[in-house]
Amino acid sequence: MIKVAPSILSADFVNLERDIRSLPAAGADYVHVDVMDGMFVPNITIGIPVVAAISRIAPLPLDVHLMIERPIRYVDAFCKAGSSILTLHVEADTQENTLEALRRIRENGVRAAISVKPNTPAEAVLPFLPLCDLILVMTVEPGFGGQSFLHSTMPKLHQLRQWIDEQNPACELEVDGGVNVETAKICRDNGANVLVAGSAYFKAADPAAFVRAVKA
Ligand code: DX5
Ligand code: ZN
Repeated sequence: MIKVAPSILSADFVNLERDIRSLPAAGADYVHVDVMDGMFVPNITIGIPVVAAISRIAPLPLDVHLMIERPIRYVDAFCKAGSSILTLHVEADTQENTLEALRRIRENGVRAAISVKPNTPAEAVLPFLPLCDLILVMTVEPGFGGQSFLHSTMPKLHQLRQWIDEQNPACELEVDGGVNVETAKICRDNGANVLVAGSAYFKAADPAAFVRAVKA
């Protein structure tokens, strides 16, 4: 089953509650929340208090994507703020700390996930795969919404689908960046089952029709 996770980075922040409450009627499955620290990526978005506030009104599970350095410092806080899925970048810390952070996320009863930037090889995920409930393949350089989809990431997505099926079949495989109706089909064909869409979702004249097309 294909799931769609609208990224609220492209929502109207003045009307964030309205935009989040409207997601189920459009057929969305998760609320994708992008957390950026101005260090791991050259942009700053929102932090723990805003995630906690969103979780009080969110009608769908929060899929929280941490684009921050050394996320182990903050995983407990983001779990307590109401994350349902908490994603760390493999590039953001040592292997030892990343393993420890994934364990701590699961101890909090939250689903643990690892993300890879476009130039990070599929192999980088392998040490973490048994501890993951979701793998996120970035299909743009993280930092900003509205960028163009990088087709060069598709062989990696395809490889990760094979390894997930062999080693951890319950694990979900998500893509994030430049997803529209056309690129969603390419991602589905290469094994993704969760599709993040920011600008394409929030600019759609008919978000429900967009979600149907992305899932079709
Ligand atoms: C980028 C973020 C994405 C972003 C996607 O660093 O992780 O979630 O909001 O936006 P679009 O779908 O517009 O590429
Ligand atoms: Zn994201």
